[in-house]
Amino acid sequence: MLEISMELIDEEGANELLQAQARVWNHALAFINSMALKCAVQLDIPDAIQNHGKPITLSELVSSLPIHPSKSQHLYRLMRILVHSGIFSLKKEGYSLTPTSRLLLKGNPMSARPLLLFWLDPVPMEPLRCLSTWFRNEDPTAFDTAHGKCIWELAGENARLNNLLNEAMASDGALACGVVMKKCKGVFEGLKSLVDVGGGTGAMAKCIAETFPTMNCTVFDLPHVVSGLPGSKNLKFVGGDMFESVPSADAILLKV
Ligand SMILES: C[S@@+](CC[C@H](N)C(=O)[O-])C[C@H]1O[C@@H](n2cnc3c(N)ncnc32)[C@H](O)[C@@H]1O
Repeated sequence: MLEISMELIDEEGANELLQAQARVWNHALAFINSMALKCAVQLDIPDAIQNHGKPITLSELVSSLPIHPSKSQHLYRLMRILVHSGIFSLKKEGYSLTPTSRLLLKGNPMSARPLLLFWLDPVPMEPLRCLSTWFRNEDPTAFDTAHGKCIWELAGENARLNNLLNEAMASDGALACGVVMKKCKGVFEGLKSLVDVGGGTGAMAKCIAETFPTMNCTVFDLPHVVSGLPGSKNLKFVGGDMFESVPSADAILLKV
């Protein structure tokens, strides 16, 4: 048995012990950061600050949010975590948005809000609680261990998960396409056709089709993802299973 007697520990050893304890606490409680951020997004705190038009005081923030009066005093602690993480900034005039919280506004077409709400939903989080079980069994993914099937199959049966997932992917597509078109537009020049395999609801392909109006773009994804989605002059949606076949084109895009 390992016994650590405080009498045998010198000052350096005591510092090391405290650092080790801090590291364990940080790792074990890291979920508080994600959950505080999820709470702020669900309460629409970024939008409340934006709508105020200038730095907002704590009491102004309390009155602009749909929170129970008995919880008002606790908002300070939530904001304290998020200011510490750089999500919001705090000066003497009040709380303001930072570039990070601006990315969480509802109206921002590149908003990371849908991605955050997907990641921190109980369905995608459950596999993380099964990791040690998954290491001991034969399941291909921890998602299978948690839910008995893969995420794409479950999304085909569960409309809420399907919407959550598709909106999350689309928000990322809008941001990614903006950056790709700024940094490496040239790789698409000269293509007559392109198929985005596993292209979700088409955020990336729509952006490519608009930037290159003479390129014929196809979004290929599972039928429950693309069914009923309207195309345009140079964009169409095709449902199918990429492990069977994919529509032919000059270029295949596989993103994420
Ligand atoms: C991680 S998402 C990426 C979506 C999109 N490419 C993006 O970057 O936002 C993977 C996509 O692959 C699709 N997918 C999964 N299995 C598929 C299959 N067998 N055939 C076609 N698409 C599939 C999913 O429905 C989902 O839209």
